[in-house]
Amino acid sequence: MSTASSNAPPTVSSGDRATPQITSANAPPALRMMLALEDFEAPASRYIPRPIYGYVCGGVERNVTLTWNRSVFDDLALVPRMLVGVSQRSQKTELFGRSYDSPFGIAPMGGTSLAGYEGDLALARAAKANNIPMILSGASLTPLEKVRAASPHNTWFQAYLPGEEQAITELVERVAKAGYDTLVLTVDIPVGSNRENNVRNGYNAPLRPSLRLALQCLAHPRWLIGTALRTYFTTGMPHFENMGKRTPLVSSTAVRERANRDHLNWEHVALMRRLWKGKLIIKGILAREDAVIAREHGADGIIVSNHGGRQLDSASSPLRVLPGIVGVAGDMPVMIDSGFRRGTDVLKALALGAKFVFVGRPMLYAAAVAGETGVSHAIRLLRDEVDRDMAMLGTNAITEVSSQYLMPARSFDGFGNA
Ligand code: GLV
Repeated sequence: MSTASSNAPPTVSSGDRATPQITSANAPPALRMMLALEDFEAPASRYIPRPIYGYVCGGVERNVTLTWNRSVFDDLALVPRMLVGVSQRSQKTELFGRSYDSPFGIAPMGGTSLAGYEGDLALARAAKANNIPMILSGASLTPLEKVRAASPHNTWFQAYLPGEEQAITELVERVAKAGYDTLVLTVDIPVGSNRENNVRNGYNAPLRPSLRLALQCLAHPRWLIGTALRTYFTTGMPHFENMGKRTPLVSSTAVRERANRDHLNWEHVALMRRLWKGKLIIKGILAREDAVIAREHGADGIIVSNHGGRQLDSASSPLRVLPGIVGVAGDMPVMIDSGFRRGTDVLKALALGAKFVFVGRPMLYAAAVAGETGVSHAIRLLRDEVDRDMAMLGTNAITEVSSQYLMPARSFDGFGNA
């Protein structure tokens, strides 16, 4: 580890020498006090106008699931092992025949380029620079071809699809033509969820022009100039580009295509499996029975997810159902998202059998406040936490992280058994 007087960038560990460690000394000045993923939230809430920020940070109804997504991590304690020698530790992770530099990637999020200038591209470029995967949302504002071109090897595409053969076929063909090799189908949105916060904050997709919206934008001049006007004057009015009919972001009449999502069923997954030659991932699984059906339909992997607490309120936290799902998944990789903020969160999920973790909102906040630099900073903060936590846990490799390091946080090992 370098000292403060050294000019050489400090390294994460002797195992991963190439990875510079983020410290308050070598972070870009604007990011010096961004010490953890949670730290991006406050500046993002100041930068982004309220309707848009509310849409991003919000959950659904009583936010029961959103709250559980964080609190569940506190129900698990880590039991570290000592003196095993951890100088050769590495967090490199194999997934679908690729080696990534960390066991986490960026989850799909629709509002990214609305919250920050070229947000989708900032996420994609930072993912490429740090060798982790980034999943482009079907609800994004940047054409999927452009994002894939910016990061040809690290970008996956996530689709929202109606239960319609033609729409599915067209989308699969477009994604394949753009060069993607991994397609994620999100299955937990048969209908729009009850996002009362959107109504209260005046958010709609498309945004409806109104005096209230104009005032909210004017109250955030840095966003107005740095994101809205800059986008408008470089690429024109943004559109929802990757989901059904191309729809403008701001319109008093346009309606985004969302019909027939409630028709989507496993037969459509079978159709996608026949059409799509790349890796097919099903996102939004919470029941172990569905994990089995996904595997039987030829899915290459699943993402256990409750959509960041944004769909069915009171839906289980993914971490709670993870061990059961891993138990029936066989050799199909089980990934997870919803609520991950810390290196210890990542390691707890890996210890319960997850192969990979996806992180959402903090990456979007980082893109909004500091573009690609901010996202790279966020990635490296989490990477450093994983590295430190692996060392203190007593592990050298991601594949060594197992349930032997876990116990329920509120029980007493051995008490009453003596
Ligand atoms: C999009 O996926 C959303 O949750 O709004």
